[in-house]
Amino acid sequence: MAVALLDLSTIARRPIPRLIAIVTILALFVFFFVPNSLESKRFANTPYVRPPFFPDHPPHERPQRHGHLRPPHPHAKHPHGVDTWATRADAVKDAFLHAYGAYREHASGHDEVLPLTNGSVDSFNGWGLTVVESLDTMWLMGLRSHFDEAIGVVANMTFHLEPHAYAPFFETIIRYLGGLLSAYALSGDSILLARADDLGSMMLPALETRSGLPIYAVNTVSGKTKYGWTSGKTLWAEALSCQLEYKYLAYLTGRKPYYRKVEDIMQIMYAANLTKTQDLFPTVWDTVRGTPTTDVVSVGAFADSAYEYMLKQWLLTGRSDTQARNLYVRSANAIISHLLFLTPNRRLLYVTDLSTNKPTHTFEHLSCFLPGVLALGAKTLPADALSPHERARHLAAAQGLAQTCWALYADAQTGLAPDEVVMHRPAQNSSTSVAGVNMPWEDAMDEWDAAGRGGAAPGTADPVSARRLDDREYDMRKRSWLLRPEAVESFYVLWRVTGDVRWRERGWAVFEAMEKTARVAGGYASVMDVDDVERAGKNEMPSYFLAETLKYLYLLFTDEELIPLDRWVFNTEAHPLPVFEWTDWEREMYGINSMSI
Ligand SMILES: *[C@@H]1O[C@H](CO)[C@@H](O)[C@H](O)[C@H]1NC(C)=O
Ligand SMILES: *[C@@H]1O[C@H](CO)[C@@H](O)[C@H](O)[C@H]1NC(C)=O
Ligand SMILES: *[C@@H]1O[C@H](CO)[C@@H](O)[C@H](O)[C@H]1NC(C)=O
Ligand SMILES: *[C@@H]1O[C@H](CO)[C@@H](O)[C@H](O)[C@H]1NC(C)=O
Repeated sequence: MAVALLDLSTIARRPIPRLIAIVTILALFVFFFVPNSLESKRFANTPYVRPPFFPDHPPHERPQRHGHLRPPHPHAKHPHGVDTWATRADAVKDAFLHAYGAYREHASGHDEVLPLTNGSVDSFNGWGLTVVESLDTMWLMGLRSHFDEAIGVVANMTFHLEPHAYAPFFETIIRYLGGLLSAYALSGDSILLARADDLGSMMLPALETRSGLPIYAVNTVSGKTKYGWTSGKTLWAEALSCQLEYKYLAYLTGRKPYYRKVEDIMQIMYAANLTKTQDLFPTVWDTVRGTPTTDVVSVGAFADSAYEYMLKQWLLTGRSDTQARNLYVRSANAIISHLLFLTPNRRLLYVTDLSTNKPTHTFEHLSCFLPGVLALGAKTLPADALSPHERARHLAAAQGLAQTCWALYADAQTGLAPDEVVMHRPAQNSSTSVAGVNMPWEDAMDEWDAAGRGGAAPGTADPVSARRLDDREYDMRKRSWLLRPEAVESFYVLWRVTGDVRWRERGWAVFEAMEKTARVAGGYASVMDVDDVERAGKNEMPSYFLAETLKYLYLLFTDEELIPLDRWVFNTEAHPLPVFEWTDWEREMYGINSMSI
C-alpha cells in the first residue's frame, strides 16, 4: 500500500535521489510493518494484539515480546585450526543427527523411536513428541533444514485425542508446550505460538478441580479429566511444573486464565502449613482439598522440578516474583538442613528422602538436577534474599552433590551412572563411629567452619575412584542408565557459574561412555546395567534425550554462551524461555501480587 502512494512517473525525471527515497521507504516498511502484519494475520482471533511498534521508542529499543536468537553460523566455531571443544560440540551434533535421523526414518508421525527394533511408540498422546522436543535443539545446533521441515509437521498438529484417550498434564505441559514455546522464542515463527496457544487452552480443564491442583490427565477434545494411579491425588511435581510455561504463554497472548490458574496453585503453596515436615513439601497432595496426604518429602521423582520452578519463576519474570523466590530460599535451606548427608569414608555428599522425618538414604539420578539449581540460585539471588553464609553453603552443596553424581558415572564399568542407589550406613560398616546414621552434611559443615575451613569443604573434594563394589559405599537399586540428562545439566550450570573446566571434562567423559555403550544402528538405547558392558540395551529412546541430554552436552562444549543464563530460563525439560517483565496493565489485569516487592 505504501508503494501505491508514490508517483512512479517522477522516478524517471530525477532517478537517483528518488530511487534512494523509495528504497529507504520500502526498507522502513519491510522492517517495521511486514513481520507484524504477517503475525496479526495469523492471530486474527486473539483478543489482544500487542502494539507492534511504539513510535516514542527508537526501533532498537522497542519492547520485545520475545528474545529471538539466530542459530549459530555453522563455521563460526573454529575459524583457526582445530579447537578441541568445538570438535566435541560437533560430535554432539553428529549424535543428535544420528538420533533424530533414526526417529525420522523409522518413527515419523509417532512419539518416539524404538532403537533396537526400528519400531515406534506413542508414549505421550501420539502427536509426534520427538519432533516438538527436538525443535529448539535443532535451532541451537544450526540445523535449519531439519527445523524448517519440522515446522511443517507442527503446523499440522491438532492435538486431538480419541474419546477414551487422555493427555497427562505434567508431561504434556513440560514436553509439548515447553518445546513449542521455546522454539517460538528462539525462532520467532508464529506458527509455533499458534500451536502453543491451542494446546495451552486445551489442557486448561486439568486445572478445573475444587482446589485448583491439576488432575492427572485430560481429553483435549471433550475436556473430560481423569485421575492416574494415585486416585484423588496430585503429585507435588505435577502441581508446580506448569508455571513457567503458562505464565510465559499468558505474557505472549494476553490471556488471563493462563496466568491465574497456575498462580492459584502457588498461593496454595504459600499458605501451606509445613511445620510437620520442617518446611519441606510433601510429595503427594489431595486434589480436592489442596492439602498434603503424606509426610514423605523428597527432591527426587514426585518432587524434583517443583523446587526448581520456585527459583525459576522469579528469574523468568525479570526477578520480580519475590514470593516464589522467598519460598525457594526457605525450601533450599530446609533441603540443606534435613536432606543432605555424607558417607563415612569417601565423603560422598548425597540428597535423600524422609519418611516420618527419617532418611531413607536412597539417592536418585533424577536428584542430580539439584546441584544445577542450587548453583543458579547462589549465582543470582540478591544479598537481601541470601546471606553470605547461606550463599557459600548453597554453592558448596551444589559442588558436592555434583561430585557424587560424577562419582556414580566414574565408578561404573560402562562409565554411565545407575538410576538409583542406596548409600551404605555406618550400621553396615562397624568401623565408623556414629551408629545408624550417616553424618548430616550441615553438621560436618559447622565443624569445618569451626575448625577454620582448612582444605575443601566436606563432600566437595574430587571423589576417590572406586571401581570395586566394596569401596563404593552404595548399592545399586536400579542398575539402568536411561539416557537421562540431570547430571550433565548440572555440569553445564556449574561450568557456567564457576568456570571450572573439570565439569566440561566430565561431561565429555559421559558423552564418550554414551557413544560406546548406548549408540546403536537405530539411534541410542537406554542401558540395562551400567556395570555390564556386554548386556544388550533397552528398546527405548525417550524424547528427553534429544531435548535435554544432547542439548546440555552441546551447550557445555560450545565456547559461546548460546543461551545466556541471565536472559533465558530452562524449563525442566531443558526448553529455554526468555526472561520478561510484566507491564503495569498486566499486573493489574492478572492480579499479580506486588505486595512483597
Ligand atoms: C534399523 O535401521 C538401521 C538403518 O537406519 C539399520 O542399519 C539397522 O540394521 C536396522 N535395525 C534393525 C533391527 O532392523
Ligand atoms: C496433516 O494432517 C492430515 C490429517 O490429520 C493428514 O492427512 C496430512 O497428511 C498431514 N499433512 C502433513 C504434511 O503432515
Ligand atoms: C501448623 O501445624 C502445626 C501442627 O502440625 C500446628 O501446631 C500449628 O498451629 C499450625 N500453624 C498454623 C499457622 O496453622
Ligand atoms: C568398612 O569401611 C572400611 C574402611 O574404613 C572398608 O575397608 C571396608 O571395606 C568397609 N566394609 C564394608 C562392609 O563396607
